Amino acid sequence: MRALVTGGCGFIGSHVVRALLTRGWEVTNLDALTYAANPLNLSGVEAQTGYTFVEGDICDTPLVRALVRGADVVLNFAAETHVDRSLLKPASFVHADVQGVVSLLDALRGEPGAAFFHMSTDEVFGALEPPLEADEDQPFAPTSPYSASKAAAELQVRAYSHSYGMPATVIRACNIYGPNQHVEKFIPLFITRAIAGEPLPLYGDGRQQREWLYIDDFVSALLAAIALPRVDCVRAIHAGSGERVTNLDVATSICSLTARPVSLIRPVDDRPGHDRRYALDSSRMRGLGWRPMVPLLSGLARTVSWYQEHPEIWSRALSGQGFEGYFEEQYRTRLAGADTL
Ligand SMILES: NC(=O)c1ccc[n+]([C@@H]2O[C@H](COP(=O)([O-])OP(=O)(O)OC[C@H]3O[C@@H](n4cnc5c(N)ncnc54)[C@H](O)[C@@H]3O)[C@@H](O)[C@H]2O)c1
Repeated sequence: MRALVTGGCGFIGSHVVRALLTRGWEVTNLDALTYAANPLNLSGVEAQTGYTFVEGDICDTPLVRALVRGADVVLNFAAETHVDRSLLKPASFVHADVQGVVSLLDALRGEPGAAFFHMSTDEVFGALEPPLEADEDQPFAPTSPYSASKAAAELQVRAYSHSYGMPATVIRACNIYGPNQHVEKFIPLFITRAIAGEPLPLYGDGRQQREWLYIDDFVSALLAAIALPRVDCVRAIHAGSGERVTNLDVATSICSLTARPVSLIRPVDDRPGHDRRYALDSSRMRGLGWRPMVPLLSGLARTVSWYQEHPEIWSRALSGQGFEGYFEEQYRTRLAGADTL
């Protein structure tokens, strides 16, 4: 089997590339190598038989068209992904997350052999009051430039599927975590700062609730979705763990796993428009026999160990990638006025 994976140098894409190669697939990885890419996430893979890397933008339709030819599946993980950055620079999210998807869809028209899998997020539904869980038919209500771009991309997938009879599967996942994730994201940011004994900037009261899925469990969900019989329409499927905790709980667990006092946690001014709660109903995915195998505390322990053992990989994002400037803009003033918990 042949796959075109986009965004394979990022967090999720790098795990997917490895998983497919291990199963004997041929994999072409198309990645624009933005600040979020880390080629070290794929170290050792370059030399593997069946792996090809192409540096390029998914918005380059002729390039994508050439790469799609002969692929059995196209898995789209290329995107701008950080909500905080979407609040600072919304336009880049429309480029990668909406225009990029339209470009992929244009390239896929006329290539009936390739099944398209598009990665989306629980954030397209906006905040949900308990006990509500979003099933696959929940209406969209995105609130950030990131989630609005992801919702717009999904609407394009639906429109192309409806108009041109293109098969497509949209996988909406809750928050995913594990090795290889960029240090700007909540869990890696807190782990790497806790390792260094630096204050942990927690937005608002920290009571925002998120659902967390370990990366290996996401990969097994994706493989289950790829194995489904093909349909001639668009199909959505949710991959969530059902394990929902507050950000404060996650921060406290990270302090405990890194043997740091909770006094490192500093409540800071909240992110504007911060959604309070996301929750997915993943019974369709569970109906395929899929189950998450890694409970949050075990996954966090594994993740903390990985960041402790592999600074040579994650620290690449700290140098020459504009991270310091971003951290300064996002957190420095907030932290200056912050007290301990
Ligand atoms: N991480 C999560 O918790 C999570 C949860 C749900 C959905 N998602 C979605 O999963 C996908 C992957 O997320 P991630 O966390 O691995 O992201 P990431 O930021 O770690 O990686 C994104 C990758 O895409 C590449 N890229 C960006 N724009 C590109 C373009 N125009 N052309 C080609 N490559 C480009 C980057 O260079 C990078 O390697 C995204 O669609 C994201 O919205 C992520």
